[in-house]
Amino acid sequence: MTLFRIENLRKSFGGLEVIRGVSLEVAQGQRLALIGPNGAGKTTVFNLINGYYRPDEGRILLDGQDLVPMAPRLRIRHGLARSFQNIRLIPHLTVEENVLLGAHIHAGGMLAQALPLFMGRGRKLREQARGLLEDAGLTAHRGALAGSLAYGLRKRVEVVRALMARPRLLLLDEPCAGLNTQERGVLMEELQRIAASGVTMMVVEHDMHFVGGLCDRAIVLNFGEKIAEGTPAEVARDPAVIEAYLGHEPEKYAHA
Ligand SMILES: Nc1ncnc2c1ncn2[C@@H]1O[C@H](COP(=O)(O)OP(=O)(O)OP(=O)(O)O)[C@@H](O)[C@H]1O
Ligand SMILES: [Mg+2]
Repeated sequence: MTLFRIENLRKSFGGLEVIRGVSLEVAQGQRLALIGPNGAGKTTVFNLINGYYRPDEGRILLDGQDLVPMAPRLRIRHGLARSFQNIRLIPHLTVEENVLLGAHIHAGGMLAQALPLFMGRGRKLREQARGLLEDAGLTAHRGALAGSLAYGLRKRVEVVRALMARPRLLLLDEPCAGLNTQERGVLMEELQRIAASGVTMMVVEHDMHFVGGLCDRAIVLNFGEKIAEGTPAEVARDPAVIEAYLGHEPEKYAHA
């Protein structure tokens, strides 16, 4: 069953068309990688999905419902969550408090609006946050200030925070960036566990070893167009893909 579908998505900035008629599908329970050289349009696709940008054309269907007319926070309620590359954890709050904020985002993104909900559901939400931290093996860090954690741990807490929204589709933008090999291994196991619990994922990631270990399928973008689609192994040996990457700082893609 198709959970998520993008149809003929287009987006220009100024006179430059950066997404040029992209279509894709993600089946329920699948992990789809979105790969491609720097500037290909991967993050822009995520920004269009979560409503940060509005497409010039095209539809974005989650479970058959078009997200395009929906405000970003309604999209979250509809089952979309994103582990943000730029919105970091709040350093002076504890790990558990940061995870609880994931529910606040889910509740509407405005504290005033969420407050009555928090008061009624506070204990339940805290239990949910603790349960998710326990599942992720992070209970020992629950009371630590987020700012005191090693970078690799912070990235894992960000994923847990996204899970507070009970997403059906989780978008991960470069989850491996800045992680060492050991941390990548731990994160991979964690994401496989989350996937096994039934969460469908779209993952932007340059590390093709990681993509191969996590994702069933990959779509390759180049200059805003889909140039290949298949298993990660298939696209990695596709001549059009190799050529696209060779035009862009090949040393950065040593894993590909
Ligand atoms: N708000 C914006 N205004 C103008 N141009 C933009 C904007 N956002 C993205 N772009 C342009 O769109 C293109 C695609 O950028 P995007 O960030 O989506 O690439 P990417 O595939 O995520 O690259 P990377 O691998 O480096 O993260 C780039 O040329 C970028 O400069
Ligand atoms: Mg990007």
